[in-house]
Amino acid sequence: MRTVHVSAGRPYDVLIERGLMDCAGEILEQALGKTCKAAILTDDTVDALYGAQTQGVLERAGFQVCRFVMPHGEENKNLAVWATMLDFLAENQMTRSDVIVAVGGGVVGDMAGFAAASFLRGIKFMQIPTTLLAMVDSSVGGKTGLNLKAGKNLAGAFYQPCVVLCDPDALWTLKPEQLADGVAEVIKYGVLGDKPLFDLLKDGKWHDRMLDVIQTCVAAKARLVEEDEHDTGSRQFLNLGHTLGHAIEKCSDYSISHGHAVAIGMVYAARLACRLELCEPVVETQVVSCLKANSLPVAAPYTAQQLCAVALSDKKRAGSKITFVLPDAIGKCELKKMVVADLPELIRMAVEE
Ligand SMILES: NC(=O)c1ccc[n+]([C@@H]2O[C@H](COP(=O)([O-])OP(=O)(O)OC[C@H]3O[C@@H](n4cnc5c(N)ncnc54)[C@H](O)[C@@H]3O)[C@@H](O)[C@H]2O)c1
Ligand SMILES: [Zn+2]
Repeated sequence: MRTVHVSAGRPYDVLIERGLMDCAGEILEQALGKTCKAAILTDDTVDALYGAQTQGVLERAGFQVCRFVMPHGEENKNLAVWATMLDFLAENQMTRSDVIVAVGGGVVGDMAGFAAASFLRGIKFMQIPTTLLAMVDSSVGGKTGLNLKAGKNLAGAFYQPCVVLCDPDALWTLKPEQLADGVAEVIKYGVLGDKPLFDLLKDGKWHDRMLDVIQTCVAAKARLVEEDEHDTGSRQFLNLGHTLGHAIEKCSDYSISHGHAVAIGMVYAARLACRLELCEPVVETQVVSCLKANSLPVAAPYTAQQLCAVALSDKKRAGSKITFVLPDAIGKCELKKMVVADLPELIRMAVEE
């Protein structure tokens, strides 16, 4: 079994191995030092695939298990569903010595994490991510939360899990485009700080190395989280491709998925870096070819003006400055604070081929 230790304010391990979901009970018992009541929080799609199995595994280890199933999809990552989760926990008389087990993708992980952070002012929780995106990104680092009408992830808390269990066998049931969403984030780690990882991914034929890839990405995220748990400095590197990626998601009214939008956002970041002469022109070509080899898109059907209008309302804008993550080379990026007044011109440079 592979282990990545995360030395956050509250330290924990991310365990990565095929078939690990069958050991969830023992792992949870070891993390807590006891058995107790466990509330599985999941969505309907994941529940149909892994709900009963996970419940059985936990019960066999001695946990007393109840299960809450939310409807799947980003549109359900909201206050109303979160409230029904909290009511469920209360109805099942969960106490602060019990535990929540999040089984699902980033939506479930973020919602269950926020439920754990807020129910009784905080009870322990375990993450069992079942999408690649959740394994390499959202389940690690303790950002939890939900969407408000005004925008994505506007309510939430920093709240770390007690253990994270990644079982790559769960990825077999994902649709190819859902797997590709996670691959976009994996490529992001390569461009950000890991040229060998990027080289492994660049012809799209790396899936037999899934365990190595997940471990490498989790370790990269863990390092950034350790440096900057509350996202005021180096953790911002994880936003590579996200500033314009979020604008693309919004312009599409969320019909373009997060990972696909981030892929396009990375192309735009690379092109902008090339035009600003921060990097060699070949960087843009390398990013484009790696994304294409991994069945990811490299352009969006929106004009620079359309993207600019929504980018201006991005929550990451701090006053009159906006921070872009731009590559100097494959494997090395920098944070560039830009003046918001220059945004129309910068986005034009990023978008126009
Ligand atoms: N907390 C963080 O640091 C962080 C980081 C990145 C993204 N996020 C959040 O993560 C969310 C996106 O996560 P996601 O891409 O995992 O989406 P998701 O949770 O919506 O999952 C995508 C779809 O796949 C289904 N699914 C999940 N696992 C499956 C499996 N093993 N087999 C078949 N189907 C399965 C789900 O039911 C869902 O319909 C967004 O809300 C985003 O804001 C959070
Ligand atoms: Zn992302």
